[in-house]
Amino acid sequence: MSGRSLYERLGGYDGITVFVNDLLPRLQADALVGRFWKNRGDDGIAREKQLLIDYVCFRAGGPMYYTGRDMKLSHQGMKISENDWSAFLQHVGATMDAVKLAEQERGDINAFVASLKDDIVEA
Ligand code: HEM
Repeated sequence: MSGRSLYERLGGYDGITVFVNDLLPRLQADALVGRFWKNRGDDGIAREKQLLIDYVCFRAGGPMYYTGRDMKLSHQGMKISENDWSAFLQHVGATMDAVKLAEQERGDINAFVASLKDDIVEA
């Protein structure tokens, strides 16, 4: 294993932005989880996208100061279910295919996302 951070191995800020730019439209277009992004203003969505990029950069070891809320607080009350979570994971997988992520980074992303589940899924 190399000593490079996950942030570096994902291609830094630009690589993570490409990842998020691919993932968010998939989520918004999804028949099940798309409802979470319905009826929200363009600026609210742009702001959330920036926070998601910042959060992933920060948690992957990048030189980023995350100013958003933590995962429990920011998703509390949305009633995100097990089925919603499964759909989310499928889209993460599709994005990893689309950006041709290598096996090791796929494993790291899967482990990172899995570590957030208890804070996000509540119904
Ligand atoms: C089924 C899974 C998920 C759904 C439906 C979901 C949905 C949402 C929605 C609708 C918002 C906007 C909240 C608002 O504007 O008040 C949000 C915020 C956010 N989400 Fe998620 N999310 C999910 C999973 C995740 C995961 C796995 C991550 C981290 C990799 C994440 C990171 C964030 C961040 C950083 C914010 C912004 C926090 C803030 O406003 O301060 N979300 N999420």
